[in-house]
Amino acid sequence: MSDNCPTAQLNHLDWLTSAYQRVAEAQGYEGFLLYSGEPRCHHADDQAATFRTYAHFLHWVPMPGLSHSWLYIRPGTKPTLYLHAPADFWHLPPELPDAPWTTRFDIRPTAETAPPRPPRGRLAVLGDVPAGIAERLGGELNPPHLLRALDELRVKKTPYEVDCIREANRLALAGHQAARDAFNAGTTELDIQLAFLGASRQRESDVPYQNIIGLNRHAGVLHYQHYNVHPPASYSSLLVDAGRSVAGYAADITRTWAGNDADPQFSALIHSMNVMQQRLIEAIRPGVSFIALHQHMHQALGTLLIEHGLIHCSEEAAVESGITRAFCPHGLGHLLGLQVHDVGGRMTPDGQPLPAPQGDPALRLTRELEADMVVTVEPGLYFIPMLLEPLRDSTAGAHIDWMKVDTLASHGGIRIEDNVLVTKEDQENLTRVQMTS
Ligand code: GLY
Ligand code: MN
Ligand code: MN
Repeated sequence: MSDNCPTAQLNHLDWLTSAYQRVAEAQGYEGFLLYSGEPRCHHADDQAATFRTYAHFLHWVPMPGLSHSWLYIRPGTKPTLYLHAPADFWHLPPELPDAPWTTRFDIRPTAETAPPRPPRGRLAVLGDVPAGIAERLGGELNPPHLLRALDELRVKKTPYEVDCIREANRLALAGHQAARDAFNAGTTELDIQLAFLGASRQRESDVPYQNIIGLNRHAGVLHYQHYNVHPPASYSSLLVDAGRSVAGYAADITRTWAGNDADPQFSALIHSMNVMQQRLIEAIRPGVSFIALHQHMHQALGTLLIEHGLIHCSEEAAVESGITRAFCPHGLGHLLGLQVHDVGGRMTPDGQPLPAPQGDPALRLTRELEADMVVTVEPGLYFIPMLLEPLRDSTAGAHIDWMKVDTLASHGGIRIEDNVLVTKEDQENLTRVQMTS
């Protein structure tokens, strides 16, 4: 992260302090008690599932993985962090970092898991709080109107948060380069995953979302969840959608590569998708509707399908008949931050719902873009039998070159995804600064 990061982080905390104060005044709260969360064991087992600290807690306290801890915020006083640090010889208790951000908190290490008892006054208790606690404290548990206001505080990023996402991108890109090299050397999905994790310096339980490492047809499974341990018979394609977190802030990057056995049409499609994705990014600036940009992606996809001879109709007909949506069923992108699909993407700044358009139920960002948002831009083009087969005998299907589709089906699909900061004038691509492809 940049050298001024400690200052940026302190500024972030000062801004957050004022923002919570404004929310408290507007909604009539005197205190907020945030719970970090805790790992949960599998049913009838003593082994816990991967744990993730509550994101509104991480917004303040940059300790991903911290559990059983409470943060009490009372406007006008220093926030108190009850840091769960029990004496334990089975595990290493969390250690308080010697970092400037700690000066913004009154930190009380404790062996207790029970919540502190805040002073009297209207209290909101937030997070995955064990049953009965909020009632015992006389607090309101996760009030929706309050959570909408706190979500809104995460929609635009402070310079500190952008620094974290920038660093997460830098580390994730090292992983992507290693994944591409492993693919070119001829290996398995699992080995590509391990190469990614090693080069991006993280263990699997720390990834911001499950890495998608799809060879050949698996590149067309949108959230493909396995890592095949056997090498494939041939290497047509690789899709890697994989990220990294820094202080809880995610990078979410996708690259698609053609293999030694790829059809040349597939390599040409990757090239065109890359050009199209960069043009979409160039259109990003404050005031642009993300729904309009998503619709623009469908028009551009129609043009691309025509140029590559995959369809024979007008761009408008390709969009209106649903052809482009059969080739790309997901949204153009989403907000990015402490959650990979960050909060607040489908509401107005004052918390009113902004649902996805009827024809695009998977679109996660329906707002107008504003400076300091960080968004992903991830157009895709897939050969998904479940979506394309119903078209084969339809009127729209008459416009599709099925021979080409059948040839390319074994390559799965293409997605190219970058992380983009909306700036005052236009945009900054946080992903491309360090990678040439
Ligand atoms: N990696 C999930 C997504 O791109 O939205
Ligand atoms: Mn994404
Ligand atoms: Mn992704």
